[in-house]
Amino acid sequence: MEQKLTQATKKLFIKTYGCQMNVYDSNRMADALAPHGYAPTADIGQADLVVLNTCHIREKASEKVFSELGRLKELRDERRAGGQDLMIGVAGCVAQAEGEEIVRRSPVVDLVFGPQSYHRLPDLIARAGQGAVIDTEFPAEDKFGHLPAAKKEVTVARGLTAFLTVQEGCDKFCSFCVVPYTRGAEVSRPVEQVLAEARGLVEAGVMELTLLGQNVNAYHGLDSKGRSVGLGELCHRLAEIPGLERLRYTTSHPLDMNDELIGAHRDLEKLMPYLHLPVQSGSDRILEAMNRRHTRANYIDAIQRILNAKSDIALSGDFIVGFPGETEADFEATLSIAREVGYASAFTFKYSTRPGTPGAAMDEQVPEPVKVERLARLNEQIMSQTRAFAKSCEGRVLPVLIEKKGRNPGQLGGRSPYLQAVHMEAPERLIGTIQPVEILAAGNNSLLGKIVTVAEPKSASVVESQASVA
Ligand code: 5AD
Ligand code: SF4
Repeated sequence: MEQKLTQATKKLFIKTYGCQMNVYDSNRMADALAPHGYAPTADIGQADLVVLNTCHIREKASEKVFSELGRLKELRDERRAGGQDLMIGVAGCVAQAEGEEIVRRSPVVDLVFGPQSYHRLPDLIARAGQGAVIDTEFPAEDKFGHLPAAKKEVTVARGLTAFLTVQEGCDKFCSFCVVPYTRGAEVSRPVEQVLAEARGLVEAGVMELTLLGQNVNAYHGLDSKGRSVGLGELCHRLAEIPGLERLRYTTSHPLDMNDELIGAHRDLEKLMPYLHLPVQSGSDRILEAMNRRHTRANYIDAIQRILNAKSDIALSGDFIVGFPGETEADFEATLSIAREVGYASAFTFKYSTRPGTPGAAMDEQVPEPVKVERLARLNEQIMSQTRAFAKSCEGRVLPVLIEKKGRNPGQLGGRSPYLQAVHMEAPERLIGTIQPVEILAAGNNSLLGKIVTVAEPKSASVVESQASVA
């Protein structure tokens, strides 16, 4: 296999579905292919290789892949008619779950590879051509140890905020969820590996890092002395990196909200006051059937401990409506826990039967119209909570990380500590700085604000390089 091809000769188009970890993985796939002559393109019509990085979490997400493959077949047929070719890869969680079945349903596919084997992509491409190549192993080697770091200019182009996977997989086996099967057992990356990647990102101008894991607060990576380190301590170590301004993490399980992590929320200014802590249901009966391993009271207790340590925190969650056996009373318990916790935002889903999970075999599947009706009621309540939270920000001055140009001329866009989008009129030179912004009005999806006093950027050169990519 050729190791260093410095000239980009081929074009790569990656379409990413699903969660933030897939976004991270897509970037790392592009990094893995860069030394082999592949440059990213935003135009699928120009691509020599198209990768669909897929999601299996719900049926809808899964099925999107096959309709996209239908369109890709047409594109490839056109190419071939013109004497050219197109290589097509399916990556991610559908690839992991379905493997060969993908090629059987869609013979247009040349490559099928799972979330744990994409570091082998250059090799898989080299082998493609004489029939489809399938790699859905959970290899013994650490993929992160085999992936090249992104070039500095690539990181700069990706923007001021970045994802960093610190933990992957899940051992919890909630009865609705495919993740333990698609992403495998829980694995934490070693502390030094995480710190080195973080330093590289920050040196390239990244100001905000979101640590990723399917069960990120179960993180237990080894440090250089072989000691197991939790997410709270990892946040402390990361916060020491000069130039890193903000830290976030997602997504968490209530049982892993330990005192050390809660203490980090209290003690670390860089750890943003936003916590995504899924509960899924407010009914103990359903929580048990979901194999969540916690009760409603355990969850409320975790929230209380967090709020005792830091009262100013925006809470977010995930909910599933229509899990098998869910009655109207169970659903009302979900509405009531959402009110009781006072979420600032939440993600809501209709239960989707996933093959191979215990939930799929359960009696009392809830009829679709009931799921639809419950989802609408929950959404209405959550939307009104989100609006109320946004409204409560009016008149406050929030530090906003200014990331990019806004939609309207003269406007810039950024993020509040609570992860809300904020728009304000400001000069472009302020991209890449954190400014105190008075919130003037709460809109449906974003806040409108104005900068109170401009804190001038420390180093003009850093800001200029960021402004040029905005
Ligand atoms: N059906 C609906 N929603 C699901 N989720 C996970 N599995 C399913 C499923 N089978 C939701 C959960 C999880 C989020 C990432 O997706 O709420 O927290
Ligand atoms: Fe989808 Fe889960 Fe895979 Fe992310 S880890 S892509 S949410 S199935």
